[in-house]
Amino acid sequence: MNQLKVDLSNIYTLVAKDEVFALKTKIAQNQLLLEQGTGKGSDFLGWLNLPSSITKEQLYDIQHTASELRAKSDVVVIVGIGGSYLGAKAAIDSLSSSFTQLTEDVLPKIIFAGNSICEDYHAELLELLETKRYSIVVISKSGTTTEPAITFRVLKQHLERQVGKTEAASRIVAITDLSKGALRKLADSEGYRTFVIPDDVGGRFSVLTPVGLLPIAIAGIDIVKLVEGARKAMDDTSSSVAFDQNPACIYAAARNALYQKGKKVEILVNFTPRLHYLTEWWKQLFGESEGKEGKGIFPAGVDFTTDLHSMGQYIQEGERMLFETVLSVEKPSHRLVVPDDPDNLDQLNFLSGKRFSEVNLMAQMGTIAAHSDGGVPCISISIPELSPYWVGYLFYFFERACALSGYTLGVNPFDQPGVEAYKRNMFALLGKPGYEADGRKLREKLGL
Ligand code: PA5
Repeated sequence: MNQLKVDLSNIYTLVAKDEVFALKTKIAQNQLLLEQGTGKGSDFLGWLNLPSSITKEQLYDIQHTASELRAKSDVVVIVGIGGSYLGAKAAIDSLSSSFTQLTEDVLPKIIFAGNSICEDYHAELLELLETKRYSIVVISKSGTTTEPAITFRVLKQHLERQVGKTEAASRIVAITDLSKGALRKLADSEGYRTFVIPDDVGGRFSVLTPVGLLPIAIAGIDIVKLVEGARKAMDDTSSSVAFDQNPACIYAAARNALYQKGKKVEILVNFTPRLHYLTEWWKQLFGESEGKEGKGIFPAGVDFTTDLHSMGQYIQEGERMLFETVLSVEKPSHRLVVPDDPDNLDQLNFLSGKRFSEVNLMAQMGTIAAHSDGGVPCISISIPELSPYWVGYLFYFFERACALSGYTLGVNPFDQPGVEAYKRNMFALLGKPGYEADGRKLREKLGL
């Protein structure tokens, strides 16, 4: 059937079905906390109804800006970090050919920047852009995040030198707060085209706002279908859908039941390299939402079968604190068959005539059986195909499950107080005005 499926049969080696279903009442209460806006962090619930509240006009506006940028650019640089880039990167990678970057006639190329402070990366990017016709989309809700802010400084100056201030302003789009923050101020004073990140949508829940949708549309992906998929996920995961039919409730309950049994690490597994960044997005979503007050499942990720040759040993026989969630795609987009080889030196002619996808599926089934037998329970989630609709569905499904799971754990899934600690120290060490005393103490402690 054409639906997202959650299969728990390979976790019952560790938890009984009753133990998962024991969380049904708690999860139902959490559904109401979300829908009635009465739980922790309820001023950040804007994501909950995004798929149904986004209008045709808003989508058209995003598509129109995307077409304009596509027409005037061979490269579009997306500047942002964390929730301000991972959703777009996840969707674009999932839905593009693996070799888009190497295909000369596919333009514009999408490049992400400002998601690190690496000098070499950004210097090399400037070298590359020297001969390119390019535009910039700068995304920052606060407008003051160091990584994108300093990257945008250099890119803005580079583009202005290359094409002049007026043309540069027509090639820069800013996605930020409606009225607050440094980026809003700059965008207004320079006359950039802008899109708004709603106040009540946190970074990691923002992929279905222009934060995700504009870069995804620039990559030529159908955002109407993506939002359609998210809307269906919204219907399928609402409180009106019974627990045992509701994929977000089942997933949230299963992972909490496993956590209660001592499984502290969840590994999201894919057998499709294009899903690598979907895992990165998922890691931020769950890690930043649940890891607080000394609690939370640590979200990790692997790409199989690749990482079976590096991480497989640990997963099979290492510390038993792991469970896996395998995210699989039922139908590949292409057809490729293993050819026969008359010499058969590798002794693999028993695979001749089989599709790669069949070999991959048997690897997946064999791995799940081996890992669950070895003490690593496995939740299986599958979608019919990798399409804009199903990627949109996945985004909303995971967001909803994450919120329910965080409430079940007893934390506020919508704040991230812990991410400030490193910034305070970094600012103190770099001599930010107002941080002098902290800077002195820290330098002494670090022996600088
Ligand atoms: O989820 C979050 O809130 C964070 O990951 C932010 O998205 C990230 O820190 C970037 O913040 P900003 O958009 O304010 O630059």
